[in-house]
Amino acid sequence: MSDLGNIKKPVKEEMAHFEAYFGRTMQSKIPLLKIILNYIFRRKGKQMRPLLVFLSAKLNGEIGEPTYVAATLIELLHTASLVHDDVVDNANERRGALSINALWNSKIAVLVGDYMLTKGMLISIEKNRIDMLELASEAVRSMTEGELLQLQKARKLNIREEDYFRIIKGKTAALLSACTACGARSATSNPDIIQLMKELGESIGIAFQIRDDLLDYEGNGLTGKISGNDIREKKITLPLIYSLEKASLSRKRHILNIIGNNKKSRSEVDEVIKFVSENGGMEYATLRMNQYRDKALAILDTYPDSEVKESLRAFVNYTVSRDK
Ligand code: IPE
Ligand code: IPE
Ligand code: MG
Ligand code: MG
Repeated sequence: MSDLGNIKKPVKEEMAHFEAYFGRTMQSKIPLLKIILNYIFRRKGKQMRPLLVFLSAKLNGEIGEPTYVAATLIELLHTASLVHDDVVDNANERRGALSINALWNSKIAVLVGDYMLTKGMLISIEKNRIDMLELASEAVRSMTEGELLQLQKARKLNIREEDYFRIIKGKTAALLSACTACGARSATSNPDIIQLMKELGESIGIAFQIRDDLLDYEGNGLTGKISGNDIREKKITLPLIYSLEKASLSRKRHILNIIGNNKKSRSEVDEVIKFVSENGGMEYATLRMNQYRDKALAILDTYPDSEVKESLRAFVNYTVSRDK
Protein backbone atom coordinates (compact mmCIF):
# COMPACT_ATOMS: atom_id res chain seq x y z
CA MET A 1 0.00 0.00 0.00
CA SER A 2 2.26 2.79 -1.12
CA ASP A 3 0.44 4.74 -3.81
CA LEU A 4 -2.07 7.42 -2.96
CA GLY A 5 -4.97 5.55 -4.58
CA ASN A 6 -4.74 2.77 -2.01
CA ILE A 7 -4.15 5.15 0.86
CA LYS A 8 -7.42 6.95 0.01
CA LYS A 9 -9.47 3.78 0.34
CA PRO A 10 -10.99 4.35 3.81
CA VAL A 11 -12.12 7.86 2.80
CA LYS A 12 -12.69 7.34 -0.92
CA GLU A 13 -16.30 8.53 -0.94
CA GLU A 14 -15.50 11.51 1.21
CA MET A 15 -12.65 12.53 -1.10
CA ALA A 16 -14.99 12.35 -4.10
CA HIS A 17 -17.55 14.45 -2.28
CA PHE A 18 -14.81 16.89 -1.30
CA GLU A 19 -13.90 17.33 -4.96
CA ALA A 20 -17.33 18.78 -5.72
CA TYR A 21 -17.34 20.81 -2.52
CA PHE A 22 -13.96 22.33 -3.38
CA GLY A 23 -15.00 23.00 -6.98
CA ARG A 24 -17.94 25.09 -5.81
CA THR A 25 -15.58 27.39 -3.92
CA MET A 26 -13.46 27.94 -7.02
CA GLN A 27 -16.04 30.11 -8.74
CA SER A 28 -16.39 33.77 -9.52
CA LYS A 29 -18.44 36.08 -11.71
CA ILE A 30 -15.38 38.02 -12.84
CA PRO A 31 -14.49 36.53 -16.24
CA LEU A 32 -10.69 36.64 -15.84
CA LEU A 33 -10.86 35.15 -12.35
CA LYS A 34 -13.24 32.48 -13.60
CA ILE A 35 -10.82 31.39 -16.31
CA ILE A 36 -7.86 31.27 -13.95
CA LEU A 37 -9.71 29.44 -11.15
CA ASN A 38 -10.86 26.90 -13.69
CA TYR A 39 -7.28 26.51 -14.96
CA ILE A 40 -6.12 25.85 -11.41
CA PHE A 41 -8.98 23.49 -10.60
CA ARG A 42 -8.28 21.32 -13.64
CA ARG A 43 -4.65 20.87 -12.65
CA LYS A 44 -5.12 19.43 -9.21
CA GLY A 45 -2.11 18.41 -7.24
CA LYS A 46 -1.77 15.24 -5.24
CA GLN A 47 -4.36 16.44 -2.71
CA MET A 48 -2.34 15.08 0.15
CA ARG A 49 -3.61 17.75 2.54
CA PRO A 50 -7.36 17.08 2.25
CA LEU A 51 -6.57 13.37 2.41
CA LEU A 52 -4.66 13.94 5.63
CA VAL A 53 -7.58 15.96 7.04
CA PHE A 54 -10.07 13.15 6.35
CA LEU A 55 -7.83 10.37 7.63
CA SER A 56 -7.06 12.32 10.81
CA ALA A 57 -10.76 12.92 11.41
CA LYS A 58 -11.61 9.28 10.92
CA LEU A 59 -8.75 8.16 13.14
CA ASN A 60 -10.30 10.14 15.99
CA GLY A 61 -14.03 9.80 15.35
CA GLU A 62 -16.59 10.56 12.66
CA ILE A 63 -16.15 12.58 9.49
CA GLY A 64 -18.78 15.32 9.26
CA GLU A 65 -19.52 18.69 7.68
CA PRO A 66 -16.74 20.39 9.72
CA THR A 67 -14.23 17.96 8.18
CA TYR A 68 -15.19 19.24 4.72
CA VAL A 69 -14.86 22.82 5.88
CA ALA A 70 -11.37 22.04 7.19
CA ALA A 71 -10.25 20.20 4.04
CA THR A 72 -11.56 22.97 1.79
CA LEU A 73 -10.07 25.76 3.86
CA ILE A 74 -6.67 24.07 3.91
CA GLU A 75 -6.58 23.13 0.23
CA LEU A 76 -7.52 26.71 -0.67
CA LEU A 77 -4.74 28.10 1.52
CA HIS A 78 -2.30 25.57 0.09
CA THR A 79 -3.20 26.38 -3.51
CA ALA A 80 -3.00 30.11 -2.80
CA SER A 81 0.43 29.63 -1.26
CA LEU A 82 1.66 27.77 -4.35
CA VAL A 83 0.41 30.52 -6.66
CA HIS A 84 2.22 33.07 -4.52
CA ASP A 85 5.28 30.83 -4.13
CA ASP A 86 5.79 30.67 -7.88
CA VAL A 87 5.86 34.47 -7.99
CA VAL A 88 8.36 34.59 -5.12
CA ASP A 89 10.50 31.82 -6.66
CA ASN A 90 10.21 33.00 -10.25
CA ALA A 91 9.02 29.53 -11.19
CA ASN A 92 7.48 28.96 -14.60
CA GLU A 93 6.14 25.48 -14.04
CA ARG A 94 3.74 24.01 -11.54
CA ARG A 95 1.90 20.69 -11.59
CA GLY A 96 3.31 19.94 -15.02
CA ALA A 97 1.91 23.09 -16.61
CA LEU A 98 2.74 26.77 -16.81
CA SER A 99 2.46 28.63 -13.50
CA ILE A 100 -0.07 31.46 -13.17
CA ASN A 101 2.68 34.09 -13.19
CA ALA A 102 4.16 32.55 -16.35
CA LEU A 103 0.86 32.21 -18.19
CA TRP A 104 -0.63 35.54 -17.06
CA ASN A 105 1.68 37.67 -14.93
CA SER A 106 2.83 38.23 -11.35
CA LYS A 107 0.28 40.93 -10.53
CA ILE A 108 -2.55 38.62 -11.51
CA ALA A 109 -1.00 35.70 -9.61
CA VAL A 110 -0.73 37.76 -6.40
CA LEU A 111 -4.38 38.80 -6.65
CA VAL A 112 -5.67 35.33 -7.48
CA GLY A 113 -3.72 33.95 -4.50
CA ASP A 114 -5.30 36.58 -2.27
CA TYR A 115 -8.73 35.66 -3.60
CA MET A 116 -8.32 31.98 -2.70
CA LEU A 117 -6.90 32.85 0.69
CA THR A 118 -9.86 35.01 1.65
CA LYS A 119 -12.32 32.58 0.12
CA GLY A 120 -11.04 29.93 2.52
CA MET A 121 -11.31 32.27 5.49
CA LEU A 122 -14.86 33.28 4.56
CA ILE A 123 -16.02 29.68 4.29
CA SER A 124 -14.86 28.89 7.81
CA ILE A 125 -16.57 32.01 9.14
CA GLU A 126 -19.76 31.24 7.22
CA LYS A 127 -19.79 27.74 8.72
CA ASN A 128 -19.03 29.06 12.18
CA ARG A 129 -15.72 27.27 12.50
CA ILE A 130 -13.54 29.95 14.03
CA ASP A 131 -11.53 27.15 15.65
CA MET A 132 -10.49 25.86 12.21
CA LEU A 133 -9.83 29.38 11.00
CA GLU A 134 -7.58 29.97 13.98
CA LEU A 135 -5.58 26.77 13.44
CA ALA A 136 -5.22 27.50 9.71
CA SER A 137 -4.39 31.19 10.16
CA GLU A 138 -1.61 30.28 12.57
CA ALA A 139 -0.24 28.01 9.86
CA VAL A 140 -0.37 30.78 7.26
CA ARG A 141 1.49 33.10 9.63
CA SER A 142 4.19 30.43 10.12
CA MET A 143 4.40 29.88 6.38
CA THR A 144 4.99 33.56 5.75
CA GLU A 145 7.63 33.74 8.46
CA GLY A 146 9.35 30.63 7.07
CA GLU A 147 9.37 32.07 3.55
CA LEU A 148 10.81 35.37 4.74
CA LEU A 149 13.51 33.66 6.77
CA GLN A 150 14.36 31.62 3.67
CA LEU A 151 14.65 34.78 1.56
CA GLN A 152 16.85 36.42 4.16
CA LYS A 153 19.15 33.37 4.23
CA ALA A 154 19.26 33.21 0.43
CA ARG A 155 20.53 36.79 0.31
CA LYS A 156 23.36 36.11 2.72
CA LEU A 157 24.05 32.47 1.84
CA ASN A 158 24.76 31.75 5.49
CA ILE A 159 22.21 29.09 6.28
CA ARG A 160 22.94 26.49 8.95
CA GLU A 161 21.13 23.27 9.60
CA GLU A 162 19.10 24.73 12.45
CA ASP A 163 17.94 27.61 10.19
CA TYR A 164 16.90 25.08 7.58
CA PHE A 165 14.72 23.24 10.06
CA ARG A 166 13.19 26.49 11.25
CA ILE A 167 12.39 27.40 7.66
CA ILE A 168 10.75 24.13 6.72
CA LYS A 169 8.79 23.89 9.96
CA GLY A 170 7.30 27.23 9.02
CA LYS A 171 6.82 27.05 5.31
CA THR A 172 5.62 23.44 5.07
CA ALA A 173 5.19 21.56 8.34
CA ALA A 174 2.86 24.16 9.88
CA LEU A 175 0.21 23.56 7.22
CA LEU A 176 0.47 19.77 7.45
CA SER A 177 0.19 20.15 11.19
CA ALA A 178 -2.99 22.19 10.64
CA CYS A 179 -4.33 19.31 8.50
CA THR A 180 -4.03 16.73 11.24
CA ALA A 181 -5.14 19.19 13.94
CA CYS A 182 -8.21 20.44 12.03
CA GLY A 183 -9.10 16.91 10.94
CA ALA A 184 -8.98 15.72 14.54
CA ARG A 185 -10.78 18.86 15.73
CA SER A 186 -13.66 18.09 13.38
CA ALA A 187 -14.16 14.78 15.19
CA THR A 188 -13.20 15.50 18.80
CA SER A 189 -12.61 18.42 21.13
CA ASN A 190 -10.13 16.58 23.37
CA PRO A 191 -7.13 18.98 23.61
CA ASP A 192 -4.61 16.17 24.26
CA ILE A 193 -5.61 14.41 21.07
CA ILE A 194 -5.43 17.62 19.08
CA GLN A 195 -1.95 18.34 20.45
CA LEU A 196 -0.75 14.84 19.58
CA MET A 197 -2.18 15.17 16.09
CA LYS A 198 -0.42 18.53 15.65
CA GLU A 199 2.85 16.79 16.42
CA LEU A 200 2.03 14.04 13.95
CA GLY A 201 1.38 16.58 11.18
CA GLU A 202 4.53 18.49 11.98
CA SER A 203 6.73 15.39 11.70
CA ILE A 204 5.06 14.40 8.44
CA GLY A 205 5.52 17.96 7.17
CA ILE A 206 9.24 18.10 7.95
CA ALA A 207 9.78 14.74 6.24
CA PHE A 208 7.63 15.96 3.33
CA GLN A 209 9.77 19.03 2.72
CA ILE A 210 13.07 17.16 3.02
CA ARG A 211 11.75 14.75 0.39
CA ASP A 212 10.74 17.75 -1.75
CA ASP A 213 14.23 19.17 -1.46
CA LEU A 214 15.76 15.81 -2.37
CA LEU A 215 13.53 15.67 -5.45
CA ASP A 216 15.02 18.95 -6.62
CA TYR A 217 18.41 17.19 -6.73
CA GLU A 218 17.12 13.93 -8.16
CA GLY A 219 15.39 15.61 -11.08
CA ASN A 220 13.33 12.61 -12.16
CA GLY A 221 11.09 14.62 -14.46
CA LEU A 222 7.90 13.52 -12.67
CA THR A 223 7.39 16.40 -10.26
CA GLY A 224 5.97 18.86 -12.79
CA LYS A 225 8.61 21.33 -11.57
CA ILE A 226 12.04 21.99 -13.05
CA SER A 227 14.91 20.28 -11.22
CA GLY A 228 17.76 22.41 -9.94
CA ASN A 229 15.35 25.27 -9.38
CA ASP A 230 16.34 25.56 -5.72
CA ILE A 231 19.99 26.03 -6.72
CA ARG A 232 19.00 28.59 -9.32
CA GLU A 233 17.01 30.47 -6.69
CA LYS A 234 19.92 30.39 -4.17
CA LYS A 235 17.93 28.09 -1.96
CA ILE A 236 20.37 26.13 0.15
CA THR A 237 18.60 23.02 1.37
CA LEU A 238 19.68 20.16 3.64
CA PRO A 239 21.64 18.06 1.09
CA LEU A 240 23.74 21.10 0.20
CA ILE A 241 24.10 22.38 3.78
CA TYR A 242 25.58 19.05 4.83
CA SER A 243 27.89 18.83 1.80
CA LEU A 244 29.16 22.36 2.34
CA GLU A 245 29.96 21.61 5.97
CA LYS A 246 32.09 18.67 4.91
CA ALA A 247 33.93 20.37 2.04
CA SER A 248 37.30 22.14 2.17
CA LEU A 249 37.21 25.91 2.52
CA SER A 250 38.26 26.52 -1.07
CA ARG A 251 35.71 24.09 -2.46
CA LYS A 252 33.03 25.64 -0.25
CA ARG A 253 33.90 29.13 -1.53
CA HIS A 254 33.73 27.94 -5.11
CA ILE A 255 30.30 26.32 -4.69
CA LEU A 256 28.92 29.33 -2.79
CA ASN A 257 30.19 31.54 -5.59
CA ILE A 258 28.13 29.58 -8.08
CA ILE A 259 25.06 29.67 -5.82
CA GLY A 260 25.38 33.41 -5.28
CA ASN A 261 25.60 34.12 -8.99
CA ASN A 262 22.29 35.42 -10.34
CA LYS A 263 22.77 33.91 -13.79
CA LYS A 264 23.89 30.32 -13.54
CA SER A 265 24.58 28.13 -16.55
CA ARG A 266 23.12 24.61 -16.72
CA SER A 267 26.64 23.20 -16.29
CA GLU A 268 27.16 25.23 -13.10
CA VAL A 269 23.87 23.95 -11.68
CA ASP A 270 24.97 20.42 -12.63
CA GLU A 271 28.29 20.98 -10.90
CA VAL A 272 26.47 21.77 -7.63
CA ILE A 273 24.28 18.69 -8.00
CA LYS A 274 27.41 16.57 -8.57
CA PHE A 275 29.13 18.16 -5.58
CA VAL A 276 26.19 17.24 -3.37
CA SER A 277 25.95 13.66 -4.54
CA GLU A 278 29.73 13.18 -4.15
CA ASN A 279 29.67 14.48 -0.58
CA GLY A 280 26.88 12.31 0.73
CA GLY A 281 24.39 15.16 1.01
CA MET A 282 21.48 13.10 -0.29
CA GLU A 283 22.20 10.20 2.07
CA TYR A 284 22.39 12.53 5.04
CA ALA A 285 19.13 14.29 4.17
CA THR A 286 17.47 10.90 3.69
CA LEU A 287 18.66 9.83 7.12
CA ARG A 288 17.25 12.94 8.78
CA MET A 289 14.00 12.58 6.83
CA ASN A 290 13.61 9.02 8.03
CA GLN A 291 13.99 10.16 11.65
CA TYR A 292 10.85 12.29 11.22
CA ARG A 293 9.10 9.43 9.45
CA ASP A 294 9.83 7.24 12.49
CA LYS A 295 8.58 9.93 14.85
CA ALA A 296 5.31 10.07 12.92
CA LEU A 297 4.97 6.29 12.89
CA ALA A 298 5.60 6.16 16.65
CA ILE A 299 2.73 8.59 17.24
CA LEU A 300 0.44 6.48 15.07
CA ASP A 301 1.43 3.44 17.06
CA THR A 302 -0.23 4.89 20.14
CA TYR A 303 -3.53 4.14 18.36
CA PRO A 304 -5.10 0.69 18.17
CA ASP A 305 -4.85 -1.06 14.81
CA SER A 306 -7.45 -0.12 12.22
CA GLU A 307 -7.83 0.39 8.50
CA VAL A 308 -7.44 4.17 8.90
CA LYS A 309 -4.32 3.80 11.00
CA GLU A 310 -2.85 1.53 8.32
CA SER A 311 -3.66 4.17 5.69
CA LEU A 312 -1.98 6.86 7.73
CA ARG A 313 1.09 4.66 8.11
CA ALA A 314 1.12 4.25 4.33
CA PHE A 315 0.65 8.01 3.95
CA VAL A 316 3.79 8.58 6.03
CA ASN A 317 5.73 6.03 3.99
CA TYR A 318 4.50 7.56 0.76
CA THR A 319 5.62 11.01 1.94
CA VAL A 320 9.23 9.88 2.21
CA SER A 321 9.33 7.73 -0.91
CA ARG A 322 7.23 9.74 -3.35
CA ASP A 323 8.76 10.57 -6.70
CA LYS A 324 6.50 13.53 -7.43
C1 IPE B 1 4.14 21.60 -2.74
O1 IPE B 1 3.26 20.74 -2.11
C2 IPE B 1 4.58 22.65 -1.77
C3 IPE B 1 5.52 22.17 -0.79
C4 IPE B 1 5.28 22.28 0.48
C5 IPE B 1 6.79 21.60 -1.21
P1 IPE B 1 2.66 19.48 -2.90
O2 IPE B 1 3.77 18.70 -3.53
O3 IPE B 1 1.77 18.74 -1.98
O4 IPE B 1 1.80 20.19 -4.01
P2 IPE B 1 0.62 19.66 -4.93
O5 IPE B 1 -0.62 20.16 -4.28
O6 IPE B 1 0.69 18.18 -5.02
O7 IPE B 1 0.86 20.32 -6.25
C1 IPE C 1 6.96 25.31 -0.88
O1 IPE C 1 8.13 25.93 -1.04
C2 IPE C 1 5.84 26.29 -1.05
C3 IPE C 1 5.24 26.65 0.22
C4 IPE C 1 5.37 25.95 1.29
C5 IPE C 1 4.45 27.88 0.27
P1 IPE C 1 9.08 25.58 -2.25
O2 IPE C 1 9.30 26.80 -3.06
O3 IPE C 1 10.29 24.94 -1.67
O4 IPE C 1 8.24 24.49 -3.02
P2 IPE C 1 8.10 24.13 -4.54
O5 IPE C 1 9.27 23.23 -4.82
O6 IPE C 1 8.11 25.37 -5.34
O7 IPE C 1 6.81 23.38 -4.61
MG1 MG D 1 9.42 28.84 -2.34
MG1 MG E 1 8.91 27.17 -5.11
